[in-house]
Amino acid sequence: MRIAVVDEIGQGEPRVAASPETVKKYIGLGASVAIQKGAGLAAGVTDAEYEAAGAIIAKSAKEALKDADILIKVKRPVEAEIKALKKGALAISIMDPYGNEAALVPLAEAGVSAFAMEFMPRITRAQVMDVLSSQANLAGYRAVVDGAAIYGRALPMMMTAAGTVPAAKIFIMGVGVAGLQAIATARRMGAVVTATDVRPATKEQVESLGAKFLAVEDDEFRQAQTAGGYAKEMSKEYQAKQAELTASHIAKQDIVITTALIPGRPAPKLVSKAMVASMKQGSVLVDLAVERGGNVEGAKLGEIVETANGVKIAGYANMPGRMAATASALYAKNLFAFIETLIDKAEKKLAINWDDELVKATLLTRDGAVVHPNFANKG
Ligand code: NAI
Repeated sequence: MRIAVVDEIGQGEPRVAASPETVKKYIGLGASVAIQKGAGLAAGVTDAEYEAAGAIIAKSAKEALKDADILIKVKRPVEAEIKALKKGALAISIMDPYGNEAALVPLAEAGVSAFAMEFMPRITRAQVMDVLSSQANLAGYRAVVDGAAIYGRALPMMMTAAGTVPAAKIFIMGVGVAGLQAIATARRMGAVVTATDVRPATKEQVESLGAKFLAVEDDEFRQAQTAGGYAKEMSKEYQAKQAELTASHIAKQDIVITTALIPGRPAPKLVSKAMVASMKQGSVLVDLAVERGGNVEGAKLGEIVETANGVKIAGYANMPGRMAATASALYAKNLFAFIETLIDKAEKKLAINWDDELVKATLLTRDGAVVHPNFANKG
């Protein structure tokens, strides 16, 4: 049983799918691990560290992939990697298939079984495999750190001999995994924190972190959470009321961090141009939803936009990748926890239970076809 890890820097991805710790664990399960030379460097892991953990260092991606039973990656495999895989091999990564349905076809045609880690069900057994949570948590943290770095002033209140520095006001919009970590981080850094969401369950969570909750709490709000725990897309009427409530609040904020997402839909627009224009010179917005269309009007992917009134809108791409070492270590563990369930430990070989709910939820392609119900016959 051979596991391959490739260098993803060419794909603009500094994270890596294995850590020295998970390499050791794979070997403990009877696998060999081939890692492309330099694959961990952008995430702070040297070839020597992988070697010390027992990995084989391969000179190229092709060499790493030769005879591999499982390819583990952060991003979806590219054509050259798919071609280098043998029929029946597994490819496991964040597959990002929505809007990229055509990219599943080469995986299917190569006879690869491709698994999308981001489709892992959010059930207790799979919590340790939840890449959305492990990465969003870090993104929420980093959004505050980046926002604070761009903001030219201090966050905590400071009483000094030279005078009192007021605490910065930070508003978090969207309180899922990323938003909750953003609140906790902003509080630790001494800011005065407020937050909003459309799911009623978030109110108590926000308050328990010592922040103030602000939302239009009408009938629609009371029903805004789906059975899966996600937000529904809100009506135009609700959005108008929400905008009215948040507009005057945003005008008084120093930093606004937006994280609002709706599964399978573009990100809701929560901050209009007029709201941005109402903010003080020097204030900062960090839009974590920018890759899905953005919550802030005027946010640009991969850029820090400065408006005419001196407000900066940060639209960083791949926020977890900005902390590649930590993000990779957690992602690698998520992957290992899933792969461990695909292996027969006594026989030390792959033994996939195709009826397991984790397998069914994440499997996109198998035996030459796109098999996931959301994508089959849509390539
Ligand atoms: P997400 O990334 O899909 O969305 C982020 C936040 O944006 C959500 O809190 C959502 O309610 C909010 N939002 C959407 N539209 C909005 C609007 N118009 N205005 C303001 N906020 C808006 O959410 P994430 O982080 O994936 O969490 C989704 C749910 O999954 C939560 O209920 C969370 O507690 C739950 N969860 C469960 C886990 C488990 O049981 N293993 C693990 C992680 C999360």
